[in-house]
Amino acid sequence: MRVKVSRKAHFNAAHRIFNKNWDDKRNEDTFGKCNGINYHGHNYELIVSVTGEIDPETGYVIDIGLLKNIIRDHVEIELDHKNLNLDVLYFKNVIPSAENISIYIYNKIKPLLNNNFDLEIILYETPRNFVTYNGN
Ligand code: NI
Repeated sequence: MRVKVSRKAHFNAAHRIFNKNWDDKRNEDTFGKCNGINYHGHNYELIVSVTGEIDPETGYVIDIGLLKNIIRDHVEIELDHKNLNLDVLYFKNVIPSAENISIYIYNKIKPLLNNNFDLEIILYETPRNFVTYNGN
């Protein structure tokens, strides 16, 4: 029996959505206020889910304290109160959309987990707008 275990986390970060290969007009037409030159912030809500078999000796799929620490050490410390475009090397060449941030978070956490686990990242950029990435 495989069970999905989830941990919620949070970070605040700033970004600007633009394609550096495009001119100003095309960026403005495509991204509107998300392209604002002075950046803007979001209160990101993150749900990290791990699916796997229950260990009969602990009753756990994963120690959620371990998952909490992984998220803190490898996601929150790096991204919280940062400007994603300027402070996170990965986003020098990747547009820091919610889609791409979710992939970045997935790729940071996945190698830290047992291979038998499936990982899913849900990232809320606003209370109404969110993306899901599970490696597929
Ligand atoms: Ni934004």
